Amino acid sequence: MGNNLLKGKKGIIFGALDENSIAWKTAERVHEEGGTFVLTNAPIAMRMGQINELAKKTNAEIIPADATSEEDLANLVSKSMEILGGKLDFVLHSIGMSVNVRKGRQYTDEKYDFTTKGWDVSALSFHKVMQSLYKADAMNEWGSIVALTYMAAQRTFPDYNDMADNKAYLESVARSFGYFFGKEKKVRVNTISQSPTPTTAGQGVKGFDGFIAYAEKMSPLGNATALDCANYTVSLFSDLTRKVTMQNLFHDGGFSMTGVSQEVIEKFTGED
Ligand SMILES: NC(=O)c1ccc[n+]([C@@H]2O[C@H](COP(=O)([O-])OP(=O)(O)OC[C@H]3O[C@@H](n4cnc5c(N)ncnc54)[C@H](O)[C@@H]3O)[C@@H](O)[C@H]2O)c1
Repeated sequence: MGNNLLKGKKGIIFGALDENSIAWKTAERVHEEGGTFVLTNAPIAMRMGQINELAKKTNAEIIPADATSEEDLANLVSKSMEILGGKLDFVLHSIGMSVNVRKGRQYTDEKYDFTTKGWDVSALSFHKVMQSLYKADAMNEWGSIVALTYMAAQRTFPDYNDMADNKAYLESVARSFGYFFGKEKKVRVNTISQSPTPTTAGQGVKGFDGFIAYAEKMSPLGNATALDCANYTVSLFSDLTRKVTMQNLFHDGGFSMTGVSQEVIEKFTGED
């Protein structure tokens, strides 16, 4: 149940595809905390997803937008302000897709048209979203913008493929835009580096089952779930984190700081 942490706050949530999506769980939690929002996704995904069901549950309107299209984004931002009755307090960018991963092309055999498309969708789109908000002066002071990322931006996970490069770029955009958004508009920009999570995007990564099981055994607190991530995002949208900006925040049960765990050692030695 909610604690009204986001009472009176308005925003946009990108990327709720189905009930497993991190954005789906976030929309549910933001609603419980008293926030109101517009839901958006790529027009092609809306036909597949069950976003209408989520919209009904959370009293949200849906505005389709391809996050790579400046025109769609400008329309989304202005219509959202109209619908919500003013400027925005929070935005969640929960978008990722690699064509190389989808087509089974390895990192050493990229097709660069695929690479460019995946980069545009997964990384540059974050800049496009923020530039659209910035130019429309759409954010209230002390607003909060969050994007989702993965630790492959810092350390190599071979099957994460070109998404690793996309995430490194995304995290850099958060810092760079965070400077301007902070200085000019007192808005914070952060990325959450989330544990492997069983969603459509997550399960698209080759060897995902091994990947998530390994992370579970390596993390002192266990993997963070999509709901855990939604809760963390709520805290970043709330007024309790006003001076946190330009950060990449690991949300992974301690995985990123763990060298090895007893469970993993036991796998190799057979000891208890
Ligand atoms: N699942 C994981 O293991 C994991 C771990 C760390 C970070 N993340 C990140 O979390 C975010 C959300 O992914 P998820 O795991 O909830 O999976 P998901 O598949 O549910 O969400 C990905 C979303 O991106 C949307 N999208 C794709 N192309 C788009 C476009 N052109 N315009 C607008 N939207 C578009 C999809 O429609 C979908 O809703 C992604 O950035 C992902 O990389 C996921």
